[in-house]
Amino acid sequence: MCGIVGYIGTRKVVPILLEGLKRLEYRGYDSAGLVYITNGKLVKYRAEGKLSSLERNVEAILGVESHVGLGHTRWATHGAPTTANAHPHGDCSDNIVVVHNGIIENYRALKETLQKKGHVFRSETDTEVLAHLIEEHLEEDIVLATRKALKQVQGSFAVGILWKGRPDIIVAARSHSPLVLGIQNGEGNLLASDVPALLPYTRRVVFLEDNEIAVLAKERWEVRQISNGRRVQKEVQTVTWNAGMAEKSGFKHFMLKEIYEQPQALVNTLRGRLEPQSGRVELPELGELETSLKEISRIAIVACGTSWHAALVAKYWLEDWVGIPVEVDIGSEFRYRRLLLDKNVLTLSISQSGETADTLAGTRLAAKLGSAIITICNVVGSTMTREADATLYTHAGPEIGVASTKAFTSQLAALFLFASYLGQLRGTLPADKARKLGHAIIELPTLLEESLDTIQQKIAVIADRFYDSRNFLFVGRGLSFPIALEGALKLKEISYIHAEGYAAGELKHGPIALIDKDMPILGLVPRDSIYEKSISNIEEIRARHGQLILIGSEGDRNLKTITDHVLFMPQPQTMVAELNPILFTIPAQLLAYEIATRRGCDVDQPRNLAKSVTVE
Ligand code: AGP
Repeated sequence: MCGIVGYIGTRKVVPILLEGLKRLEYRGYDSAGLVYITNGKLVKYRAEGKLSSLERNVEAILGVESHVGLGHTRWATHGAPTTANAHPHGDCSDNIVVVHNGIIENYRALKETLQKKGHVFRSETDTEVLAHLIEEHLEEDIVLATRKALKQVQGSFAVGILWKGRPDIIVAARSHSPLVLGIQNGEGNLLASDVPALLPYTRRVVFLEDNEIAVLAKERWEVRQISNGRRVQKEVQTVTWNAGMAEKSGFKHFMLKEIYEQPQALVNTLRGRLEPQSGRVELPELGELETSLKEISRIAIVACGTSWHAALVAKYWLEDWVGIPVEVDIGSEFRYRRLLLDKNVLTLSISQSGETADTLAGTRLAAKLGSAIITICNVVGSTMTREADATLYTHAGPEIGVASTKAFTSQLAALFLFASYLGQLRGTLPADKARKLGHAIIELPTLLEESLDTIQQKIAVIADRFYDSRNFLFVGRGLSFPIALEGALKLKEISYIHAEGYAAGELKHGPIALIDKDMPILGLVPRDSIYEKSISNIEEIRARHGQLILIGSEGDRNLKTITDHVLFMPQPQTMVAELNPILFTIPAQLLAYEIATRRGCDVDQPRNLAKSVTVE
């Protein structure tokens, strides 16, 4: 998704814009640009490709005497990723410039109307329409003109606007696309699509909501409603993240750093929520929902991508420990089918970013039908957290790598706690089972901390053997099936190898036709209640000469008789099979990472992908 940064203050603006854009690179982009005001002029620089191209273009003007500007990284939606389509975009005279994240759905009709009035367009983008629309409305007041223009827009937008006539302010507005203000004391104020871009300068932030327009000046800021111009009182929040958390800290890639941060992310997510001895789970953030949680008859879960895989795992835990039906939907499907939801159904949304358009749209529909919304989310103040009835935060810290890793295992930990909490609240989870679950998960972070290096070394040997594969299958049963899906997604999204996840028992219904000596298959075969069934499926593969890689439970010598490529996962002292999804994800993440690096892929910013898909 596009990234927006803006600064107005006492410091030179160009280095701040470039640093901010670097911190938003993980959002995914294919061109970049910036604009600043100096000596009464608006000066624009834009470049195709990575930020380094833009940096080369602006090298000579890093020290330019300017203290107000906007930067943008563009993830192309309308128009190819060319310089002409890169943001910022200007009006006819380039006196007004706009940077934008989102989609203006009615831009064609607006463009035709504006062209008939003589406006000349220079790009294929929907964004440029905004600059001309503001120009059309502009008399003396850029804020009023912007409000009038935005009221004609259908679709989603987070925008930053500069006008040559008011070099003392930046105008910003949002509807269905994230935008956050960074508040400094007197040194200036900032604007960004996401918190990491603000962290080197401030941890004091203001999250804009839909229908809000902000005016940023060097020493003051205000927020109003786009619809009626009425002033909005906003809370300044202090984020707990620091700048270092959004940096690589010696790791080659953010993804590897975040894989290794998983033990700490688990500790942070469990902290204060689990009484280790009894296994009792306390979730005070759900306090107001406790009564309705005792009465719900069903749970609907909506999520996308990796978060959807977490939802699939949660279904097993919830149905087992709570004893009510759980249906899981992909956001883009959920939002367009007839939803049979009401106040008796709890809707869970799972999202690392809290901004995924399809998941967000689904939760809004569910809320309209009377369903209570709980969101499992990693970003404080994100849209989903502000709209849900309650939020269960994963405390994984900023996840910069596009491929989700620590957020996923933290989601599983949060869902594990939620399912145990709900089972205890409704009296469906026996106390000794709750205690065992608690003892097991509390051991997990240390166990992972101690074994990550060894796992990576062993996975590296397997990656040496299979990195040039053209296809890959991942198979698992029961709780391992969603992890097979997740392993396949990790591999395909960062190595570009075609990989598919399947329920192991499903192979004989067609996919087994794919098995031959050139097909690598990673099998997840923990010692659980369906172990024998899983082994039967593995034998079916072996009989057809598939190249087997097995991930199993420590001590399971049987696996060595099946294939040479075996990796054993350590087991907590108090082992419960329900923990395997968290454990068995780690080798799958590392396999994707090791293969992708061997293939020279851009691990942190895979082609075509964005960290947060805020458009549908
Ligand atoms: C996961 O590796 C992907 N980056 C992607 O599938 C992601 O999980 C999905 O877009 C959902 O994002 P969210 O968790 O922020 O809603």
